Amino acid sequence: MIIELDNITKTYINGGAGIKREVLKGISLSVEKGGVLSIVGPSGSGKSTLLNIIGTLDKASSGNMKLDDKDISQFNDNQLAELRNQKIGFIFQSHHLLPQLNILENVLVPTIPLKDKKLKELSMERALSLLEYVGLKDRMHQLPGQLSGGEAQRTAVVRALINEPEIILADEPTGSLYLDSAEMIGELLSKINKEKNVALIVVTHSLSLANRIGNIYSITNGLLKKD
Ligand SMILES: Nc1ncnc2c1ncn2[C@@H]1O[C@H](COP(=O)(O)OP(=O)(O)OP(=O)(O)O)[C@@H](O)[C@H]1O
Ligand SMILES: [Mg+2]
Repeated sequence: MIIELDNITKTYINGGAGIKREVLKGISLSVEKGGVLSIVGPSGSGKSTLLNIIGTLDKASSGNMKLDDKDISQFNDNQLAELRNQKIGFIFQSHHLLPQLNILENVLVPTIPLKDKKLKELSMERALSLLEYVGLKDRMHQLPGQLSGGEAQRTAVVRALINEPEIILADEPTGSLYLDSAEMIGELLSKINKEKNVALIVVTHSLSLANRIGNIYSITNGLLKKD
């Protein structure tokens, strides 16, 4: 399994008052290599919290998690950062591109920490071929500010793919896009999952996106269930 969650919980303790909020109450989930699912649920139900835990950006309060069959509970911050950089691509609602770098430079940012020289040398080739894949090769010298929302998000998709991750985690990837661009991003993510055999988890409010991605789960009252 590429992702395995066993009874994951997350409780936030807020401020001085110490009020506890149990956001995730025991989530178990297995995703195989190249697997796909979408997660829906009301605002505040814990979708981003769950995605951030899977992406090792946040820590669970209890439970076990394995990524690529490795128990990551004993990993230190450096090991987690390396794992994230190599195995996981993130796509957020806002593209988070660096405004002063052009498109090509932006998609190469995740290759900066790569230690493997061979991989690093191949990055440029990969960047060009992925930019072509998403139809942006002729725009690669432009700055993010000169792109439409959909184009900027396609750039973010390329950046997420540049290190050949085994997992793509997308949190409301179409949340700030208009209908046509949203459809295009949904289609692109689906295509990447199928053609590149990358496991894909998409969190969304959009039922049309959830339907396109398929294998829909919802979070309610801190629990994940298959729709
Ligand atoms: N760092 C934090 N400290 C305290 N509470 C938090 C923290 N992060 C999230 N929460 C709370 O946890 C709950 C779940 O938040 P989360 O962001 O996971 O929801 P969501 O399902 O992604 O919502 P949305 O659809 O609005 O993005 C919310 O009630 C939120 O206020
Ligand atoms: Mg959220």
